[in-house]
Amino acid sequence: MSTLGGAVVTGAGRGLGRLVAGLLVDRGHDVLVTDLDGEAAAAVAAELGPRATARALDVRDDVAVDAARDELVGRAGRLAVWVNNAGVLVTGPAWEQDPQARRLMLEVNALGTINGTVSAIAAMREHGGHVVNVVSLAGLTPVPGEAVYAASKHAAIGFSLSTAADLRLAGIGGIDISCICPDGIWTPMLHDKLDDPGAALSFSGRLLQPEEVVAAVARVLDRPRPVTTLPRSRGVQARLAALAPRLAVAVSPLVAARGRRTQARMLRER
Ligand SMILES: NC(=O)c1ccc[n+]([C@@H]2O[C@H](COP(=O)([O-])OP(=O)(O)OC[C@H]3O[C@@H](n4cnc5c(N)ncnc54)[C@H](O)[C@@H]3O)[C@@H](O)[C@H]2O)c1
Repeated sequence: MSTLGGAVVTGAGRGLGRLVAGLLVDRGHDVLVTDLDGEAAAAVAAELGPRATARALDVRDDVAVDAARDELVGRAGRLAVWVNNAGVLVTGPAWEQDPQARRLMLEVNALGTINGTVSAIAAMREHGGHVVNVVSLAGLTPVPGEAVYAASKHAAIGFSLSTAADLRLAGIGGIDISCICPDGIWTPMLHDKLDDPGAALSFSGRLLQPEEVVAAVARVLDRPRPVTTLPRSRGVQARLAALAPRLAVAVSPLVAARGRRTQARMLRER
């Protein structure tokens, strides 16, 4: 049993979550690798060695989320870190999406983050702990082509900051909530979207490698921060966009055009 306590990572069957689970194992935590795809979670846990175990988990199911937490606490003694990483992206204007796609993004990205955070807080009240929410720059700025995704990520940030304030108001110390807000990351989420104009904004900056985001998670684990943007320059742009929404909406076709050029180049080079 690790003296550092245990960690749970959601959506860790591939992409960023898989690497974050590896980071937590490397830092000495007992890690519960969870994913909607239980086989993928099991494969990642097998790869990470004896400190990792796996469990199929749909973050939309609050009862199942609590059961995952209890399994980890039973094994590790206490919960030190919970990473809400599971996410889904369906592109296109909201009016062209079917209602199930809209519901899916809100339920996984927003409600899943709420379920995980609430569940973690219950286990962290006694000993403290750290909730890390993988959000997105889409939680800070308008994102044409990803409107419902952006809505779900704005919800995740609003919830995280408000809950941090609620903890303070309630005098509950020792529990940190940190949001990581990256620009587009080259993970399976984007691998099939090079010919999707709806995903252009994800390609409009310097595409991040997942390892860069994992390094940011490592920094935040050492020094909790309410919001970390990646890369920093795009974070500044996103915050300016929030201050000048009319301008942000007006220039969005130019930003989308830049993203489409990057998509076309990457498709050619593939
Ligand atoms: N890739 C990007 O460009 C990008 C940019 C910013 C933020 N993010 C965020 O980073 C996080 C990780 O995404 P990724 O890029 O690794 O994507 P990914 O698609 O590679 O991985 C997402 C994982 O979440 C799992 N998942 C989906 N629905 C689930 C559910 N209901 N319950 C549990 N697990 C579920 C999937 O099975 C998958 O393993 C997501 O929250 C995403 O929104 C991604």
